[in-house]
Amino acid sequence: MCGIFAVIGSREVSSLLIDGLRKLEYRGYDSAGIATIDNLNNDQNGQLNVTKSKGKLINLSSLIKKKPQKGHVGIAHTRWATHGKPNERNAHPHLDSSGQFAVVQNGIIENYRELSKRLKVKGIKLTTETDTEIIPHLIGLEIEESLANGLSPNEQTLLLAVQKVLAVLEGTYAIAVIWSRTPNALVVAREQAPLVLGFGEGEFFCASDTPALVGLTRTFLPLRDHEIALLTPLGIELYDDDGNRQHRAPSLLKGMELFADKRNFRHFMLKEIYEQPETAQLWIDRFLPVELPSHNPVAFPISKSILEQIEQIQILACGTSRHAGMVGGHLLEQFAGVPTKVYFASEFRYAPPPLSPNTLTIGVSQSGETADTLAALRMEKERRDSTKDANFSFHHLGITNRVDSSFGRELDNVIDIGSGIEIGVAATKTFLGQMLSFYGLTLQFASLRQKRSPQEILDLSNDLRLIPKQLSDLIKKHDSLSKDLAHLFVETKDVIFLGRGINYPIALEGALKLKEISYIHAQGYPAGELKHGPIALLDQHVPVVSLAVPGVVYEKVLSNSQEAKARDARLIGVSISGPESEMFDELFTIPKVSEWVSPLLTVVPLQLFSYHIAAHKGLDVDQPRNLAKCVTVE
Ligand code: AGP
Repeated sequence: MCGIFAVIGSREVSSLLIDGLRKLEYRGYDSAGIATIDNLNNDQNGQLNVTKSKGKLINLSSLIKKKPQKGHVGIAHTRWATHGKPNERNAHPHLDSSGQFAVVQNGIIENYRELSKRLKVKGIKLTTETDTEIIPHLIGLEIEESLANGLSPNEQTLLLAVQKVLAVLEGTYAIAVIWSRTPNALVVAREQAPLVLGFGEGEFFCASDTPALVGLTRTFLPLRDHEIALLTPLGIELYDDDGNRQHRAPSLLKGMELFADKRNFRHFMLKEIYEQPETAQLWIDRFLPVELPSHNPVAFPISKSILEQIEQIQILACGTSRHAGMVGGHLLEQFAGVPTKVYFASEFRYAPPPLSPNTLTIGVSQSGETADTLAALRMEKERRDSTKDANFSFHHLGITNRVDSSFGRELDNVIDIGSGIEIGVAATKTFLGQMLSFYGLTLQFASLRQKRSPQEILDLSNDLRLIPKQLSDLIKKHDSLSKDLAHLFVETKDVIFLGRGINYPIALEGALKLKEISYIHAQGYPAGELKHGPIALLDQHVPVVSLAVPGVVYEKVLSNSQEAKARDARLIGVSISGPESEMFDELFTIPKVSEWVSPLLTVVPLQLFSYHIAAHKGLDVDQPRNLAKCVTVE
């Protein structure tokens, strides 16, 4: 969360900074700011100018339009508040007391309280509630000392000072720094928070994520942990934390054509819901081509020798990704016979289960940058590596939409779900891509362990191949139905979602989507649990959404739905059409499919239902309050 963008070159940068932030706004949007150095007399004494604004980027951009800010170097930030309220004062960039140093930061400086005490002793008064403000002050003190020791006020002095400050910071962060006395220098560094460098023609960039580089350059290089870089109009110097110069070849951005364009859709979320048939088709073409034999049904880049050793699986993820993991857990256990547990990554880290032998750890994250998931994976690697017992080795796999992320860099085996960039904060098409990847793993394990016959493997594969067309029909049908129904729920305060078996995670996902974007309180329950407490909530004001899919638990879910209806709840079904479905007040019909593949379809009406309620309420669907697309703090 929080987006950093920075530029150095030979043209005016303030509008570039705003454009860069616009492409990163999905990372945080409660306030924003830029700092540039106006090199007034073309000497080494520029003037630092800062503009900040509370709220969406549009507020900052209109300020800049009214009062343009000069400079060929600048840093910019869009914030998701962690320390201190989202207001103009706490917005980045932050300055030191002399107003010469400006810093933007993404992450958390864990020891900022202790460091602020040190600053207080030196008579420095902090003016914000943030953990970031200490950084420009510390850099200022280092520079003061360097200049007193005879160093010149140049970019190497700045680099050295930042290196010294980084050595005392604890936490996970990425920073960008400028100094008014070095208008030809920009220093950036990373410690477990994402940061990429961009190489343009006569200008260089730094950003929290690659979308900010689109249209400026295709050549980029992700910074590694503990690295620091000095950017000048002439090039980039990269160093490790021991000050050794690093040389790595940059990469080329791919798939830029998929970059954020709403086309004719009102919101990115709706566009992304509509892209799901394509997501599914691309996934199938890549991983499930018809020519593969039943003993090797999926074209995943994971070595068979690793999978053969696996006796159990643990899945670590957060939010929607965890729901995909839960669908995966059900499939892996029930279809492929592999004992599987799914954990909240944020809980796993502090309460891990006892080590189990021959375990595959799967991390799931669309962004590949979620701090909780990364921390849980790192902790698991560390404790398994420290046993030095081959049975407890760290076998691992990542499922992500961003192979150019920390997931891609830190994990040896990664399944790229290939959903294309997702801008809406509420995950939709990436959820589908994650679920599909679990279907792939399930087929692989089921065939490897001979848990299922070749015919069963073929049946599931063929059912998956029908999904793109079924999705496309469902979206068309339920987009207009949910739009028509939306007005009925505008005043609703609570909604209960019921599902069982493989559709229980979809009930959780439906409730999460509704909460996230429409701010209506919603809970997902396993339908059988209704009578054990939540039923007390039901009356005519609390609608119940019931996922009733023919299969093992169909009759049970129908009975649970009847219990809700008997309490006057308005009953919304996601089910096949037939005599049983007459009990529903509203019905989102789904085709008759095997229960195994049903979650890929049942989630769609729930996405559209949430979307249309939020859109009808006039809410900011793509950037809901308090949320960010990429949660890089624990
Ligand atoms: C999804 O709609 C949410 N915005 C959120 O729950 C998200 O799934 C969670 O933060 C995990 O993100 P990740 O997939 O990038 O790891």
